[in-house]
Amino acid sequence: MSAARVHPIMPTSTHDEVAEQMFVVALKSFIAAEMDPALRRLSQEVAGTLPVAEGESRPSLQQLRRGVSSSPLYRNWISTMRAAQELMWQAAGDCVDRQLDELDHIAAAAPSVGTVRTNPDFVVPRYLAATDTHMMPGSYHTDPTPTDVRQGAVFDKAAALYSLGRQGGQMNDMRGHTIVAHVRERFPDLEVRRVLEMGCTVGNSLVAVARNYPAAEVQGIDVGAGLLRYAHARAALLGVPLHFSQQNAEETDFADGSFDLVYSTAVLHETSARAIKRIFSECHRLLRPGGVMVHLEVPFRAEHADNFDMLRADYETRYNNEPFWIGAVSADLAELARTAGFEQAAAGYQDAAAVAPQSGQHFAFGGPNKGVYRSWYVVSGRKAVS
Ligand SMILES: C[S@@+](CC[C@H](N)C(=O)[O-])C[C@H]1O[C@@H](n2cnc3c(N)ncnc32)[C@H](O)[C@@H]1O
Repeated sequence: MSAARVHPIMPTSTHDEVAEQMFVVALKSFIAAEMDPALRRLSQEVAGTLPVAEGESRPSLQQLRRGVSSSPLYRNWISTMRAAQELMWQAAGDCVDRQLDELDHIAAAAPSVGTVRTNPDFVVPRYLAATDTHMMPGSYHTDPTPTDVRQGAVFDKAAALYSLGRQGGQMNDMRGHTIVAHVRERFPDLEVRRVLEMGCTVGNSLVAVARNYPAAEVQGIDVGAGLLRYAHARAALLGVPLHFSQQNAEETDFADGSFDLVYSTAVLHETSARAIKRIFSECHRLLRPGGVMVHLEVPFRAEHADNFDMLRADYETRYNNEPFWIGAVSADLAELARTAGFEQAAAGYQDAAAVAPQSGQHFAFGGPNKGVYRSWYVVSGRKAVS
């Protein structure tokens, strides 16, 4: 027996697969409820015994890591976090592989709504090709056959497990709603007729954004052909006409001034420092005068972090195949936007919108970090009109 689908191409789960997935959820919940608070207390205690350099508010990460490294709690925490992540991908992969033929068939039979353009000669940037990002076997770009949708299906199935359903449930569309909320809050006069999402993965944010601008032409790019085939079928089956293409956000084939709004969600922390600069410059080229760039990032900043937060960032960087995490959360994104030529460049915490923002509703930008799934860190700016 299989559970109902949240959308027509979402992989279904058998009884045993649900049990496997619920074990992952229970393990991740245990880490959050029991292990994180204990390690937070330990990191504060250890930090209190360490010297702090002049002008700094806490010991360096290296000192802190050395200070906790012999603690069984710290070692256990790393192992359990890593095991939960590996089990999550295994659970999603098992479920997708059982029904891959059926999913390929659903994709092939999807209505002819929107388009998808893949490129067999596409060169995946080395910062993505060199590692299985956040431990996802095969990462974003592996394409087992020239027609299948495997990586997209695995990502879609795992996303709700990863966030315990707190990023828009199985539609995983909270970040898309938050982009819309941010644009309305900061640039209420922006007329949105052409939109591009960079790093759109399975189009989860893009569907939310497109539904908010029903008259707009909406494009999404990513590096993975299998992701994009799945994204296209997913959107078409939801009745949303989106246009997907396999392209590097640093250098796309769209003409200058093609878009009113170019955005990304949770992409920058997976790219190198050099790539972030190139992506911002590409956004500037792609926008028409007066157009707006928005990048939404994890709600964590090195300058606001406490000792536990830094150990968590260190875990992502060293043990979860997110090698650029600490670099991205330490980068001055507003300054990088100004350097790329943007006006009104600003970065700060944006209140999250869990569902589509209604007119008259406000989602504050620039206030305090309200925590994971309540805030996102956002940088945005506008291309000069002349
Ligand atoms: C963590 S996922 C974010 C997915 C989606 N935007 C969301 O919020 O759920 C990051 C995505 O960015 C894509 N990406 C990273 N660097 C890229 C680049 N240079 N060009 C195109 N896509 C890129 C990855 O392939 C991946 O699909």
